[in-house]
Amino acid sequence: MAKKEKLETKTSTFIVIGMIAVALIITFFTINPFRSSAQDKQIIRVAHNQSSDHPTHTGMLAFEEYIEDELGDKYDVQLFPSELLGTQTNMVQLTQTGAIDITVASNSILETFNPQFQIFNLPYLFEDPEVYHAVMNDPEIVDPIFKDTEEAGFVTVAWLDAGTRNFYAQSGPIEEPADLEGLKIRVQESPTNVRMMELLGGSATPMGFGDVYTSIQSGIIDGAENNELALTENGHGDIVKDYSYTLHQMIPDEVIVSTALLEGLPEEDAAIFEKGFEVMESTQHEAWALKVEEAKDQAENEMGVNFSYPDIAPFKEAVMPIHDEILKENPSFQKTYEQIQDKALEMSEETNENDEN
Ligand code: GCU
Repeated sequence: MAKKEKLETKTSTFIVIGMIAVALIITFFTINPFRSSAQDKQIIRVAHNQSSDHPTHTGMLAFEEYIEDELGDKYDVQLFPSELLGTQTNMVQLTQTGAIDITVASNSILETFNPQFQIFNLPYLFEDPEVYHAVMNDPEIVDPIFKDTEEAGFVTVAWLDAGTRNFYAQSGPIEEPADLEGLKIRVQESPTNVRMMELLGGSATPMGFGDVYTSIQSGIIDGAENNELALTENGHGDIVKDYSYTLHQMIPDEVIVSTALLEGLPEEDAAIFEKGFEVMESTQHEAWALKVEEAKDQAENEMGVNFSYPDIAPFKEAVMPIHDEILKENPSFQKTYEQIQDKALEMSEETNENDEN
């Protein structure tokens, strides 16, 4: 045999051996009778963008524990915090395809997947946190929105508390809308938030949560708006020392689940997952209430952040046109909007009655 031919025969022999080896490895891992039972379990990937010290993670841990206690022989719940699997927008897309099973996404960014979520992103929609909680806990109000995304590949199974959103900027306290003029303020990636900033006179810079710290530090933006945990858990309080309670939004985080997962669950397991979502939600809410108090204390006393409490009336007046704009563009939102107003009215009447008695 000529030298060249010999070499070609040798090369093709190596290729064939290589292919057989890969096939054997795949077969081994697929039908190996000795593989551990962990490999037989269905992996449930749960992703979010908060640290592992955040109440959201506490809620996810409670879910993991509950599911594995009840169905540990079948499911292995794996948690991916801190944007490990991408920004919230990336994670929602991966949930739609079923690559991630469960994602926590701010209601803000969900409006780009289904416009109906927009309603809960309206500034000054809720009178106070009590009305906000009562609305979010009322299936008659939220379910038509939470369950409407099935065709888009996910549904919302729980809501998590993310407190109130307030402004913080390196230039000093935001006492009135004029203080926002000329400032580049990071907002979540949502058209409603961009419009809100326009109405307040600031310049909206939408970006993922994970980029905010370095963007403030490097001067790409002048400030942001978020709850108190952004100061502590995300360290924003290290670089911004003024936080103003404008209370402009109460935006929940939604727990979305891939329809691919839900459709594949046997009925009896689905009931346990449902209970698991309740455990996750109530654990997160309790952890939130404690953590937010701790965060205020830590920001003020350890990080040197000054809290200010401006008159919110001028902020409210500046942004209220957005309510009419959005309702005009989407007449189908009117029903939910009225249900929210009715809930607020009902609650204030109850309070008045109790005060009289
Ligand atoms: C809050 C909220 C997150 C969100 C973040 C943001 O922390 O809980 O879900 O991603 O704000 O401003 O992006």
